[in-house]
Amino acid sequence: MTPQRENTVSRDDHVIVLFGATGDLARRMLLPGLFHLAKAGLLPARYRIIGSARSALTDDEFRQYAKDAVAEYGLAEPTGEAWREFANSLSFAAAQPTQPQPLLDVVAAAEKALGGQPRRLYHLAVPPVAFAPTIGMLADTDLARNARIIIEKPFGTDLASAHALNETIHATFDESQVFRIDHFLGKESVANILALRFANGLFEPIWNRDHISHIQIDVPETIGIEGRAGFFEQTGTFRDMIVTHLFQVLGLVAMEPPTSLAAKQLRDETTKVFEAMPPLNVTHVVRGQYRGYRDEPGVDAGSQTETFIAARVEVDNWRWSGVPFYLRTGKSLGQKRRMITLGLKQPPMRMFALDLGTGQAAPSNQLAIDFDDPGWIAARFLAKEPGAAMRLGEATMSFRYADSFCSQHALAGYERLILDAMLGDQSLFTRADGIERLWQVSARLLDNPPPVEPYTRGSWGPESIHRLISPHHWYLPDTP
Ligand code: BG6
Repeated sequence: MTPQRENTVSRDDHVIVLFGATGDLARRMLLPGLFHLAKAGLLPARYRIIGSARSALTDDEFRQYAKDAVAEYGLAEPTGEAWREFANSLSFAAAQPTQPQPLLDVVAAAEKALGGQPRRLYHLAVPPVAFAPTIGMLADTDLARNARIIIEKPFGTDLASAHALNETIHATFDESQVFRIDHFLGKESVANILALRFANGLFEPIWNRDHISHIQIDVPETIGIEGRAGFFEQTGTFRDMIVTHLFQVLGLVAMEPPTSLAAKQLRDETTKVFEAMPPLNVTHVVRGQYRGYRDEPGVDAGSQTETFIAARVEVDNWRWSGVPFYLRTGKSLGQKRRMITLGLKQPPMRMFALDLGTGQAAPSNQLAIDFDDPGWIAARFLAKEPGAAMRLGEATMSFRYADSFCSQHALAGYERLILDAMLGDQSLFTRADGIERLWQVSARLLDNPPPVEPYTRGSWGPESIHRLISPHHWYLPDTP
């Protein structure tokens, strides 16, 4: 991450090829995101976007497809001069690994139209089985030259497959050209963890085992599998959400201060966190499946795929030894939230009565970070209630992005990361050694998963999550 970077514009002319251009991700996120970047003036002055998929569309059909996608999912209406300019940059090329010629022709035409030597950016928004064949096609043609490549998740399904995929990629691309995307790392409030910790003198001194009793990274979702049975049955929540998103967030929460915000330094530090994680202990994992999942179309009647995971994870280093990290995420839960909560230790001596007049023990202080963009941060502590008695009440100091900053320049996770890839900034992308280490620590669980436990839709997971976290308790739900 370039220090002090404003929303920087890429100066290199670009030809962007979107593989999987007619897929769900392109429709919901990538096409609307690219238009938002264009409208915000953040794409280079000269660029072309080529949609590619197995099925053939004409350029006009693809423009219409993109327009419908932006209208349905984008923040800005696809109208006016901004849309006309963007639509003119779009073209389409059917491509199959064995039949690259149509794509070669369209890339050549786009480069000729731009002139000079534009950079090539390939976004592989395709199912994992298509990664290697697509990379093979780029390698076998001239297309890999002067290129960067964005690889979607999940990056492998275990250590062996992630390693094999890294080898396939490295046979053609240098690591400096590879951008393994995890859109959680592009969220404003996730990047803000770096600012919170390292731009302030207030928080970092307590950010360690001397003051923190445990940490929760809690990402419940209300959606079910949304018709994605094919994907989900193969993947499950652990691979879909923990290895990909929650472990990455944990890396930022637990890392040591990097010597700078540059990609190498940042990723060295998150990788050290992953190296300090011992293999997951299977008895510290709860796998859940919501009732009714097996009745979803395309789901096996005896499916053991988890739609929920809660896990206790350790980071065995000087800073965090003995501090458990509790991770939870799942589908069809009570709320959609994205929370990190640091529970602080109790003060060494108690001179106040322990109860708050409610019969409950005084809660520990907490630092809560809601990273659901635009997000908020709150410190929860105890204060004296006004009155003659020394009674304590719970108090909160909070910061809300929406109240404090204008969100006009905010970018969605994908937008920010695509822009970073165009700028060649790898800070917020996962690195080969980091992702392989995460699969390594996951191996025991993947080889020997505990049976799934049922939970009711709209709940917070199977009952055993409370045993998992004891003597602490889950901070969510935090609203009555
Ligand atoms: C995706 C997962 O990567 O992230 C989905 O495949 C999940 O299962 C989604 O719902 C959550 O992303 P967000 O940005 O909506 O929190």
